[in-house]
Amino acid sequence: HWSAEEKQLIASVWSKVNVEECGAEALARLLIVYPWTPRVFDNFGAIIGNPKVRAHGKKVLTSFGEAVKNLENLKTTYAKLSELHCEKLHVDPENFRLLGDILIIVLAAHFTKDFTPACQATWQKLVGVVAHALAYKYH
Ligand code: HEM
Repeated sequence: HWSAEEKQLIASVWSKVNVEECGAEALARLLIVYPWTPRVFDNFGAIIGNPKVRAHGKKVLTSFGEAVKNLENLKTTYAKLSELHCEKLHVDPENFRLLGDILIIVLAAHFTKDFTPACQATWQKLVGVVAHALAYKYH
């Protein structure tokens, strides 16, 4: 269900993403803008410049890269992580959608003119299906 154009828009943005920078920024923004989200993280403390937030943001965005590589197979790709976030971490799946929206803002800010409306539309679709796949094992 991805057109050749969509695949190209995803791949071209992703090839320029610095997972450490953008991951840290997206997670920090999530934690600040939605002040209930830090509760699920143990002891993160101050958010800006916190090395744990940085490291975890990188981990999350690196994992997001699995979606880029497995566009046709997202539910299987994220089955284990969905179980983990549900059963062990007790993360409300609404937060996956919030993080996706924040990621779009971070990408738009980094890539400005290259992040065209068409590009944004494709990425909105991508973060939506990733959030859906991560929520799939919730019951
Ligand atoms: C851990 C991916 C969104 C909370 C993890 C891990 C990965 C991951 C790969 C490490 C798993 C392991 O250690 O085996 C993702 C992806 C997300 C996402 C791909 C969305 C695109 C979120 C959101 C929250 C969250 C929105 C909460 C607001 C956590 C917590 C941990 C975790 C609390 C454990 C942290 C720790 O080890 O201290 N996530 N995550 N995740 N995630 Fe997510």
